[in-house]
Amino acid sequence: MPFQSPIGVFDSGYGGLTVLKEIVRTLPQYDYIYLGDNARAPYGNRSYETVYRYTLESVKWFFNQNCSLVILACNTASAKALRTIQQNDLPQIAPDKRVLGVIRPTTEIIGKYSESKNVGILATNGTVASDSYPIEIGKFFPEIKVYQEACPMWVPLVENNEYQNHGADYFIRKNIHNIFEKGKNIDVILLACTHYPLLSEKIEKHLPVAVKLLSQGEIVANSLKHYLQRHPEIENKCSRNNMRLFYTTDSPEDFNNHAAKFFGKEIKANHIDL
Ligand code: DGL
Repeated sequence: MPFQSPIGVFDSGYGGLTVLKEIVRTLPQYDYIYLGDNARAPYGNRSYETVYRYTLESVKWFFNQNCSLVILACNTASAKALRTIQQNDLPQIAPDKRVLGVIRPTTEIIGKYSESKNVGILATNGTVASDSYPIEIGKFFPEIKVYQEACPMWVPLVENNEYQNHGADYFIRKNIHNIFEKGKNIDVILLACTHYPLLSEKIEKHLPVAVKLLSQGEIVANSLKHYLQRHPEIENKCSRNNMRLFYTTDSPEDFNNHAAKFFGKEIKANHIDL
């Protein structure tokens, strides 16, 4: 049995699969374990304490699977739990392991896409309330104006498989209208929730033509590639046995039925309790 140390990829549910799909495309050589905490999703409206507790439990589970590197492919968990885990928990429980999120890789390049220097962020209530995007973008691109709009109905539309129906257009039109009311010169819209790429087609339909729509999958995958190049001490630990394992805290049958839409291929998941 070869020694395996897969890269862990986490989300509250299915959304992180849109990120894992791009990571696997960019870095197919490594092993991966995905965990969706579907039994407790969505995280978007939950308190800091709850998102932190759930995320830390998941991170510890990944460490027990021998992961040296875990990616929180969830904006809500990245916004509400990542910093505390990195600063308070890791030094005590696993100083030689790393946990990374999806906000930093996105904010450090987003300014390059905008000519008007006006950027719109569409995200869950939790991510918007944390102000992580305006704060982080301000560090890299202080000249950029950031406008945010919480879209609390979008994850339920995706999770309940209603995202291709007319009802979805109502909420998408409403949130897009709201964000352009706040920032008339926005020329880049970021989908700052890993569930939202499934709504891209409908979102494009409601966007002004000149506005660029950005998803995070490719951005996070490229950033991970560069991270591994810069950190050989972590890269050397990541095993390469063509392993892709999927776990859910809810029903694996339901997970298998939904996951292909996010990942682009069929998946066979296992159940775990946290
Ligand atoms: N996909 C997650 C994100 O990127 C959130 C979904 C949820 O509300 O659980 O924020």
